[in-house]
Amino acid sequence: MSLKVRLKYIIKNNLLFKSKIQHVKVLAIGVDSPSDLLILTDFFQIERSSITFQNNFKPHLVEAEALGFKCTIDCKDKHDLIILAIPNDKKEALGLVSKSLKIIKEKGYIIFDGQKNIGIESIVNKLSFLNFTLISKAHGKLVLAPKPKTIPHSVEEWDNASQLSLNKNNFLTSPGMFSYKKIDSGSELLGNFLGNHIKGQVADLCSGWGYLSIIALEKNSKIKKVCLFEANYAALMASKQNLKDPRACFYWEDVINLPDQEKKFDFVICNPPFHSKAKYDIMQGRKVIKTGYKILKFTGTFFMVANTHLPYERNLRNYFSKVDKMKETPYFKVFRATMPIINP
Ligand SMILES: C[S@@+](CC[C@H](N)C(=O)[O-])C[C@H]1O[C@@H](n2cnc3c(N)ncnc32)[C@H](O)[C@@H]1O
Repeated sequence: MSLKVRLKYIIKNNLLFKSKIQHVKVLAIGVDSPSDLLILTDFFQIERSSITFQNNFKPHLVEAEALGFKCTIDCKDKHDLIILAIPNDKKEALGLVSKSLKIIKEKGYIIFDGQKNIGIESIVNKLSFLNFTLISKAHGKLVLAPKPKTIPHSVEEWDNASQLSLNKNNFLTSPGMFSYKKIDSGSELLGNFLGNHIKGQVADLCSGWGYLSIIALEKNSKIKKVCLFEANYAALMASKQNLKDPRACFYWEDVINLPDQEKKFDFVICNPPFHSKAKYDIMQGRKVIKTGYKILKFTGTFFMVANTHLPYERNLRNYFSKVDKMKETPYFKVFRATMPIINP
C-alpha cells in the first residue's frame, strides 16, 4: 500500500520517463502487494500482462497471476522500468539491487522502494553512484534513478555475496531465507524430540531450507517418505540440495491454502511462520495448525515448535484431544498433539 502512495507521487509529479517510450516493459521484483502496481497500467496505458511480477513467495505470485500480471521466479530480460521492493535482509537486498542494475534498458529507470523499519536508509547510503531522486513518504523511501552510465565493481560483489553458500552448520542457504546463517534454535529444540519413533508418511510444513526433515530422516529409518512443503522457492530449492535422501519429496506450496489432500500423514512436523508481509501475524501459525490437522490421519501425531509467547495452546486443543507441552524454555515451546478430533 505504501509503495502505491510513493509510485503515485512520482507519476503525478512527472518524474518518470521525460522522453516518450512506446510499450514500456515493467519488471516488479519482490513486491508483496501486487495490487499496488495497478496504478502503472493506467499511467503507461499498457496491458497488465506487460508487467512482469517476479517473486520467490508462492502466495504473492498466485495473487499477481489472478490480477493478470506475467509471473516468474527469475527474470534476466531487459526492462524499461524495474521496481525492486527492498527486502529485510541487507545482503539479499544488495544482491537484488546488483541484479536489477544489469537488466535496465538504455533510457530506462530503476526504482528501489522500502519501509524505514526494514532499514532502507542503509541501502540508500550505498547508492551514491546513482543520480537519484529520493522520495520520503508513508513511512518509507523510494529511490528513482535513470540507468547509470557505469556500475562500480563493488556492485558485482553484492550479487556474489547473495548466492547460495554453506552456512555455519554446513548446509546450503542464501541470504533472506529463514535462519540462513545457522540452524534455528527453536528447530534444533524440536529436533531433539524427533528421535527414533517417527515412521510412515511425514509432512514437514513450512520446511525452509530443510533442517527438520534432515534431522527426522537421519534419526528414523522407519520413515517411508517425507514431504517438504514450502512457499519460498529459493528455500525449497536449497532444501533439495541439502537433502539427497530418496525418501524426500518437495512441494512449492502455500501451506495455508494447500490443495485438498487426503488425511494420509502419520506425522506432521513444523516450525510455522509468525510474520506475513513483514508484519507480525499470529494467524499464520494458527492456519498452519489447521492444515496439519487436515492432512493427518486420525492416528497421527503433530509436532510443533513456537516462540514461548505465542498463544497456540487453545488452537491446538480445538483440533486435538491430547496436547502435551514437551518442553518450554524462555524462548521456545515444543508441542506434541495427538488424537485429532473428528468434528472439531
Ligand atoms: C519459522 S520458518 C521454519 C523453517 C524451517 N522449518 C526450519 O526449521 O528452519 C517458517 C518457514 O515458513 C515459510 N512460509 C511462510 N509462509 C508460508 C506459507 N504460507 N506456506 C508455506 N511456507 C510458508 C517461510 O518461508 C519459512 O521458511
